[in-house]
Amino acid sequence: MADRADLRERVAVQRGQRIAQAAVRQRRTVLHRDGVRCEVGDGQGASRWLLNFCGNDYLGLSQQFAVVNALEDAASREGVGATASHLVSGHHAAHEALEREVADWLEVPAALLFGNGYLANLAVLQALLGDDDVCVQDRLNHASLVDAARLSGCRLRRYPHGDAEGALRQLRASPSGAALLATDGVFSMDGDVAPLRELSLAARMQKALLYVDDAHGIGVLGPQGRGSVADAGLDLRGAPLRLITLGKALGGYGAVVAGDADLVRHLAETARPYIYTTALPPAQAAASLAAVKLARREDWRRDKLASLVAQFRGGAQRHGLDVMASDTPIQPVLCGDNATALAMSAELERAGFWVAAIRPPTVPEGRARLRVTLTAAHADADVDALLEALVAARDRVGHATSRVA
Ligand SMILES: Cc1ncc(COP(=O)(O)O)c(C=O)c1O
Repeated sequence: MADRADLRERVAVQRGQRIAQAAVRQRRTVLHRDGVRCEVGDGQGASRWLLNFCGNDYLGLSQQFAVVNALEDAASREGVGATASHLVSGHHAAHEALEREVADWLEVPAALLFGNGYLANLAVLQALLGDDDVCVQDRLNHASLVDAARLSGCRLRRYPHGDAEGALRQLRASPSGAALLATDGVFSMDGDVAPLRELSLAARMQKALLYVDDAHGIGVLGPQGRGSVADAGLDLRGAPLRLITLGKALGGYGAVVAGDADLVRHLAETARPYIYTTALPPAQAAASLAAVKLARREDWRRDKLASLVAQFRGGAQRHGLDVMASDTPIQPVLCGDNATALAMSAELERAGFWVAAIRPPTVPEGRARLRVTLTAAHADADVDALLEALVAARDRVGHATSRVA
């Protein structure tokens, strides 16, 4: 018998470790949804309605009438599947229209639709970088960017969170090969915004290309919701390529990489996660087109969101909750260890609120948190009620959530 590690044994050991570290993750089933209210199953046949404060539907577009109608209408005409990859026979008029609309919205020459943001990040790094190249990344970048660097085979160098000088140092330390500087625009688990102007300068000084993953900035930040890149006032030279996802503020599914036309064409022609996969259902693209049009023009959604963020932060400050420094709809409440985060989440659920506990490896060790997210679909009263429940949970669980950063 070969002297190999037994995979089943390893799986059992790892499961035991996760249990010991309060790190087991479990799905919950949404049985019904009505805006920010969800009927959630407990896995044993019972269910209850909870007020959702952990989704990413920041603008409240996922159940918006025109968006749902666009999907239904397109599905009734086109069917449900694209039936092939984009480069074979799966590229439909709805995909084309969405790419044009996004390029126009973001004021860039080209846009390319992907199955989702994870795939899009894999595609960008795999298509642009090879073994001799370097990818410099913020330490708190999304997992898909880290995985993308691995797929590309390039050297991955990380810098301290939000530290543009650190990025410059890493670029200087890797003078050979091509270089890509990749950052989240809005950090998904922290809610803060990357110093994009400084990063852009560092990239240009070192002849590196800046790539901004704006999964959580699009629709929310900047004029007309054009995202963190527009909010920072960067043009195509400053930020040649960016990712936007369609599954968060735009309420649907999918992602778009937008920017420099030559780079985008290169992705379409060479990126494996673009070539070797079925195109997004055209009806989904039609829904996203409707969502983008609304996100562009309905500033009231962003105004409402900004007012809810201010209300939440003001309340958290008054109650001494340990909310991390963020002006975006992502308002994490730091808990520290996993067990505390889980206990807080369970207390909130008892009070009728759904706020998932986010634990390592999604966040660094000892930085488990409740990732509270706000949406334009929340009411002021919802936010007040959440604050009250957070304070009660903190007092009952009894830990040091006692400061607003
Ligand atoms: C920063 C960031 N990038 C990329 C993704 C992946 O996007 P998608 O959910 O469309 O795969 C996410 C979230 O899932 C994210 O938070």
